[in-house]
Amino acid sequence: MYRRNRILRQSAAIRSLVAETKLSTDDFIVPLFIIEGNNERQEISSMPGYYRISIDLLANEAKTLWAMGLKSVLLFIKCADDKKDNKGTEALNPDGLMQRSIKAVKHAVPDMLVMTDVALDPFSSYGHDGIVEDGQIVNDATVEVLAAMSVSHAAAGADIVAPSDMMDGRIAAIREALEDSNFKQTGIMAYSAKYASCFYGPFRDALDSAPGFGDKKTYQMDYANRLEAIKEVRMDIEEGADIVMVKPALAYLDIIREVKNISDVPVSAYNISGEYAMIKAAAKMGWIDEDKAILETLTAIKRAGADMIATYFAKDAVRLLG
Ligand code: PBG
Repeated sequence: MYRRNRILRQSAAIRSLVAETKLSTDDFIVPLFIIEGNNERQEISSMPGYYRISIDLLANEAKTLWAMGLKSVLLFIKCADDKKDNKGTEALNPDGLMQRSIKAVKHAVPDMLVMTDVALDPFSSYGHDGIVEDGQIVNDATVEVLAAMSVSHAAAGADIVAPSDMMDGRIAAIREALEDSNFKQTGIMAYSAKYASCFYGPFRDALDSAPGFGDKKTYQMDYANRLEAIKEVRMDIEEGADIVMVKPALAYLDIIREVKNISDVPVSAYNISGEYAMIKAAAKMGWIDEDKAILETLTAIKRAGADMIATYFAKDAVRLLG
């Protein structure tokens, strides 16, 4: 009996025929960083080629993305220092930067799917994802703010709110608050299995949101754990999450697969800032081929089980997919 496995690898034509995983422009969510000002575009030093942009440029960017076939954005804002406090008060301002950004995207491209980050850290004087009391990140008081924040984003026109904080019980609270405010069409993409990771470093530069004391290990998950991810995902689905997320992606491909195997809602993965920075840095040194690294990375994340991928490489990927 001869088994010739190389038959299915011998030409580009046959390889494309038998490829199990194919990336598509439909797979990507584009994270965007927004700042106050006019015609402002600041390159993020630890994320070369990625920018914080002002709202006027955001409208243009939304049109560009839409024309490329990129139909989902995930908004993050950089809050001015003098507006930060312990309770994230500015996050609830109906005329705050996030709320205006949502409206700007919807105005520029009404059909764009607008997702918003829901967490206190960009608004927190402590740089934590929750309210701080006696050096502790308090859960239930934070959840109340997250629910109000979600309603505020929905009121501004967000299609999907994306809580990235890892407080307990927040999905149920957000779902209930959305129902009570009659936002019955607003989705929730839960950062369900979000690990305490060193790979968020460049993102915290982008938003100037690094924790002022301690770390995030009392709410984000320990990277040693696997079953805990399943528990978090199951609970978020029960509480009403429409999409669950695993984050980061690359060091957690096993978790993406396990979550995909048990989830009856779509699974998202976040190809985060540190993963972007590593590829950019190695490519700059001439040590890897950037374009190939992008496609291999994104394909691997999809192969692991991600139904959608939030990635800073979305535009590059679309270019490369041609
Ligand atoms: C904060 C938040 C973080 C990211 C998304 N939302 C950082 C953190 O938890 O400290 C990271 C995204 C990235 O690194 O690209 N709620």
